[in-house]
Amino acid sequence: MEPSPDAGVTRRAVSPAESRRASRGWWDGDADAYQAEHGSFLGDVDFVWCPEGLREADAHLLGDVAGKRVLEIGCGAASCSRWLKSQGAEVYASDLSAGMLRHAAAGATRSGVTVPLVQTDATALPFADGVFDVVCTAFGAVPFVADSASVMQEVYRVLKPAGRWAFSITHPMRWVFLDDPGEGGLVAVHSYFDRRAYVEEDGHHVPTYVEQHRTLGDRIRELVGAGFVLDDLIEPEWPEGHDLTWGQWSPLRGRIFPGTAIFVATKPA
Ligand SMILES: C[S@@+](CC[C@H](N)C(=O)[O-])C[C@H]1O[C@@H](n2cnc3c(N)ncnc32)[C@H](O)[C@@H]1O
Repeated sequence: MEPSPDAGVTRRAVSPAESRRASRGWWDGDADAYQAEHGSFLGDVDFVWCPEGLREADAHLLGDVAGKRVLEIGCGAASCSRWLKSQGAEVYASDLSAGMLRHAAAGATRSGVTVPLVQTDATALPFADGVFDVVCTAFGAVPFVADSASVMQEVYRVLKPAGRWAFSITHPMRWVFLDDPGEGGLVAVHSYFDRRAYVEEDGHHVPTYVEQHRTLGDRIRELVGAGFVLDDLIEPEWPEGHDLTWGQWSPLRGRIFPGTAIFVATKPA
């Protein structure tokens, strides 16, 4: 069936299955373009948490990973996993999208740093209970699942006691603004409290891209509800002289309000 002309963008509730299907299709289809646009900024063996350029090498949010068993979810091309391996960790890199994992395999070939790649939905991790010291993701999985509480529960399940979970997402306050890196992105137009998903859909109203919004309080409640203790919430500032524009991220907006939130949590010992 050809899409009808009314394909477009809306805000509405989507089921977990609709969200998963859209994400898989989107990231498979967009993988080449994403890597072409962002691959050099992300590097082949580097852990960049966000467009603000905060690196794990400087932030140490995961602690000393040498000898630790680490899982990355929503790994994309897995540059973070390869950096963690270069620091002495035993790492598993996972993602929903085969297209993104194809770039992870290419990155391993280019860099000579190889980690096991696992294709999986972050809401149903194919690992036993209590096997990882650290789980992490930079902008992977969490913003794209309808039931993000279930990601928190799955990560909690696979972590050992005292294990650490750190994830970065678009800062929830950005939901209020248009995805515009320029002046148009400085005007508040949407309700922060509107949890309906951002949905791009085809002419038959089938979602093709879905991004989910939770308030800061929602995210904290999901973490605490799964059993975690929240250790820190980092809102990286836009560095002086950093002139990157990445989608809606830009120096103009970054100087005024945060673009990224990084949650660091621990499973009680
Ligand atoms: C913005 S990219 C981030 C990739 C990488 N971490 C980076 O920094 O470039 C989001 C990633 O989340 C993955 N993803 C989306 N939904 C997912 C899900 N339900 N489970 C696991 N990964 C998912 C996508 O396939 C994509 O690779």
